[in-house]
Amino acid sequence: ITRTLCSSAVRNAAIKHVTVIGGGLMGSGIAQVAAVTGHSVVLVDTSEDILKNSAKNIQGSLKRVVKKKFADKPEAGEEFVQKVMNNISTSTDAASVVQKTDLVVEAIVENLKVKQALFSTLDKVAPAHTIFVSNTSSLPIADIASSTARLDRFGGLHFFNPVPMMKLVEVIKAAGTSQQTFDALLDFTKALGKHPVSCKDTPGFIVNRLLVPYMLEAVRLYERGHGSKEDIDVAMKLGAGYPMGPFELLDYVGLDTSKFIIDGWYEKEPENPLFAPSPLLNKLVAEGKLGKKTGEGFYKYK
Ligand code: NAI
Repeated sequence: ITRTLCSSAVRNAAIKHVTVIGGGLMGSGIAQVAAVTGHSVVLVDTSEDILKNSAKNIQGSLKRVVKKKFADKPEAGEEFVQKVMNNISTSTDAASVVQKTDLVVEAIVENLKVKQALFSTLDKVAPAHTIFVSNTSSLPIADIASSTARLDRFGGLHFFNPVPMMKLVEVIKAAGTSQQTFDALLDFTKALGKHPVSCKDTPGFIVNRLLVPYMLEAVRLYERGHGSKEDIDVAMKLGAGYPMGPFELLDYVGLDTSKFIIDGWYEKEPENPLFAPSPLLNKLVAEGKLGKKTGEGFYKYK
């Protein structure tokens, strides 16, 4: 009995109140999933207009879920959407809302200085128990955490786009992250209905470390004239069972995002041939052909 009491006493209280900073693509998805699973969520961004748009996007996404899930009970569906939306409030002032939050999830612009400035401010006002995480795809968690005095309560939660659909979350244990914090993040990920995998604080964690060099290798194969884009995509779908081919995936992720990631790694490890820049990728980005979002990348979109 004593042992049970002791271990439960040191266990983290469950994460109930979540502050998501950044109401863009990822932040909106994270806020939605947390609200669906019964957490109180505050979504923060820089302007009311952006936040209105985020709320609209979340509501739209929920309505699509409801259409399938409550196909024969539209009223119950309406009620579900309302209940989830009631779990989400919005704010343009992060410092004022973190005072009663258990977890801060940062999903703002991928810029180290901007992320550091945000966390440095929040570190001074958030309660001692509050855990901070970043959803960064390419920056070291330790570099972001260094702007705070809570290295033990700082980690990474790397979600995947689209967040409501994608089951995986990479949970990152940086050098300073305590086991207690890491366990709380694993529990939180499971409470969201997601599947966590444990990662070290290394470039690309697991998924992007494998995926980004693979996509660039596909571009190199095409640049050498060893296969057409269409054939390479079909080959990887039908031969390797991937749901999308590498060029379709690059267009979906955004060519600028992929270039940003590889450039960052190349800067750190220029001798690694897997991180070598691709002239074709760079050319398309310079021409503003960034993929689906601009109507053209490796393919054209209507
Ligand atoms: P996004 O551009 O869609 O959204 C970023 C949002 O943050 C914008 O609404 C912006 O107004 C807001 N913002 C910027 N600075 C802010 C500040 N100081 N305070 C409050 N809000 C601020 O970007 P996205 O795609 O959602 O990415 C966000 C983060 O998630 C980045 O770190 C990115 O690397 C990471 N990520 C992105 C993935 C993707 O597939 N797009 C996948 C996994 C991680």
